[in-house]
Amino acid sequence: MDLFSITGKVVLITGGGGVLGSSMAEYLLKNEATLIILDRREETVDTAISRLKKISDKVSGFACNVLDEKSLTSVANEIMARYGKIDVLINAAGGNMPGATIGVDQTIFDVDIDHFKKVVDLNLFGSILPSLIFGKEMVKHKKGAIINISSMTAQSAITRVVGYSASKAAIDNYTKWLAVELALKFGEGLRVNAIAPGFFIGNQNRDLLINKEDGSYTERGDTIIRNTPMKRFGEADELNGSIHYLCSDASKFVTGTVLPIDGGFSAFSGV
Ligand SMILES: NC(=O)c1ccc[n+]([C@@H]2O[C@H](COP(=O)([O-])OP(=O)(O)OC[C@H]3O[C@@H](n4cnc5c(N)ncnc54)[C@H](O)[C@@H]3O)[C@@H](O)[C@H]2O)c1
Repeated sequence: MDLFSITGKVVLITGGGGVLGSSMAEYLLKNEATLIILDRREETVDTAISRLKKISDKVSGFACNVLDEKSLTSVANEIMARYGKIDVLINAAGGNMPGATIGVDQTIFDVDIDHFKKVVDLNLFGSILPSLIFGKEMVKHKKGAIINISSMTAQSAITRVVGYSASKAAIDNYTKWLAVELALKFGEGLRVNAIAPGFFIGNQNRDLLINKEDGSYTERGDTIIRNTPMKRFGEADELNGSIHYLCSDASKFVTGTVLPIDGGFSAFSGV
């Protein structure tokens, strides 16, 4: 038996049209999973699906807001009617918003609380709601794995991104909490883990880390590299090995963990 086989596993990725979600989607399809991607806008889903169909036709997608319980429920019903099960849920919809970031010349007292709340909504409730609605289907089969996406901002303070940090810290706790709840009440087949990516250049942080004019690092980008023992940013496909492991039976006794994928950033004191 291949411990790492994910052939035929039905994997649902929220934010599947984003930078990290689509890289995971591509990798999992190549490894014979059956894939469903969910993203907020129809055109994002369509673009992703037409690219992914070149790899395999075992992919479908839904336009759905992860904060909208009704549309999540109708997607869950459609998935169950079509596939009869959900093996893995990857909560990759999330991110930061400019208004919830403290500007270079600002302090915490300038924070926009409405934007702060929106970021918490997206990152925390945008993972809680899908994990409850799709998790209910997993519980019926007594089997399923949920993978959340945490961040380096969860464990220690990273300047400026206060709303994002608070929401990702909450994700770490929710990952542990839900892992305990599901295993205690529904059995060992249900697992909940998270990955904590270090710094990957994405849509939401590109301007913070790289100067548009010449592609050099900003002061913030430089500081991150100085504090990363491997001395570089991550590549999206470097998350795939951990995602594969957490989807597969190779991790069947693993639940409630948050796995850093960060080139050593979280292990380093900076000295
Ligand atoms: N890129 C990084 O360096 C990094 C580091 C750590 C953690 N993360 C986390 O990884 C996850 C993915 O990040 P990314 O860099 O791929 O971001 P991204 O912006 O490229 O992708 C996020 C996707 O989520 C979708 N989305 C946003 N709100 C949604 C909603 N309400 N309903 C449905 N879909 C919605 C977006 O349309 C987008 O396609 C996020 O949770 C992010 O916080 C990213």
